[in-house]
Amino acid sequence: MKRYFELTTHENQVWNAFLNGAVPLKYAYSGSASITHARLAASAGYQAANWRAETETRIVSELLGSKANKLVEFGPGTGDHSAFLLNHSTIKNGIEAYIGVDFSRMLFAHALPKLRKSMPRTTVSFVHADLESEPAQTMLLLNHPVVFVSFGSLLGNVESPESTAVNIRDSVPRGSTGLLAVSGCPLELDTKQILKPYESEEFRLAALEPVLTLGLKASDVSFDLKWNAEDLSVNAFVELNQNFTNIDKDFTVPAGFRAQCFTSRRFTPARLENLLNEAGFSEVKITASIDQSSLFAEVKT
Ligand SMILES: C[S@@+](CC[C@H](N)C(=O)[O-])C[C@H]1O[C@@H](n2cnc3c(N)ncnc32)[C@H](O)[C@@H]1O
Repeated sequence: MKRYFELTTHENQVWNAFLNGAVPLKYAYSGSASITHARLAASAGYQAANWRAETETRIVSELLGSKANKLVEFGPGTGDHSAFLLNHSTIKNGIEAYIGVDFSRMLFAHALPKLRKSMPRTTVSFVHADLESEPAQTMLLLNHPVVFVSFGSLLGNVESPESTAVNIRDSVPRGSTGLLAVSGCPLELDTKQILKPYESEEFRLAALEPVLTLGLKASDVSFDLKWNAEDLSVNAFVELNQNFTNIDKDFTVPAGFRAQCFTSRRFTPARLENLLNEAGFSEVKITASIDQSSLFAEVKT
C-alpha cells in the first residue's frame, strides 16, 4: 500500500508532534491512514470495544424522536456505526439533512455511500474541521437548533477533550440537543481485559500508519501498549530500534527514541459530567451501560 498524508502540511505537523513525543490520533484517520483505520474498524475487536448498539439505538431514537430534521455528526469515521444506528432507529426517515464533520476528508469519502444508503431521503453534506483547534463552520448551513451526535469516543481520543468539547458546542446553534458517547471505565478494572481489544495486527498497523508515513519501517520500530491507571487511559508507544535519518531535512532520531502514537481516555460519569459542564453545555445527563464501559451524555447548547 502506498503511504501518503492527506495534506502536504500534515507531514511537518506529524514530524513535529513525533519529535515532541506524542502524535495526535487525528492523523491516524487521514490520508493512507484512512485505509488502515477502515481495516481496523471492520474488525470484530473494534466493534466490541466501541459499539453499544442497544443503548445507543434507544437513546438516539428517544433523542431524535420526531424533531430530528437536521442531524450533525461529529467524527462519523467509516460511517458504519452511524449507518447501523440510523438503520435501527425510528428516526431515519425524518432526517431532512445530515452534516458529517470530520478531520479526515478521505474517511468521509469512504463513509458517504453508506450514509446515503442508510438515509435515502436525506441530503448528506460534509464539513471539514479540526475540532481540537476550532469549531466547525457548520453554522453557515444551520439557522435553527439541530440534533448532534458523536459515537465511538471522539472526546476520548483527542489531545484535549476540554477544547474539543467547547468547539463541538460552538459548532451548533444555541438550543441544540446532543448525544456524546465516550468509553467509560469498567467497574471491574482488569488491565488485561482493557488492553485486549487493542492486541491485534490491524490495531498496530492503524496506530503506526502516521509514523510509517514519515518513512520509518515497521521493522525499525517496536510497539507497546500501556494502561495508565492514574489518568485512566490506554496509550500506545512507538520506539526506534535503530537510528533513523531524515535525509531531506538532515536530522537523525536516535535509537531508543519513544513517542506516543495512540491514546484512548476513559471517563467516569463524574469526570464526563464535569468536562461537559465546564465546556458550557447545559442539562447534562449521563447514562452508563451496565458495566460502565460506555457512557452516553445527553446535552443541550
Ligand atoms: C474514534 S473515531 C470514531 C468513528 C465512528 N464514529 C465510530 O464510532 O466508529 C473518531 C472520528 O473522529 C474524527 N476525528 C478525530 N480527531 C478529530 C478532530 N480533531 N477533528 C475532527 N474530527 C476528528 C476521526 O477522523 C474519526 O472519523
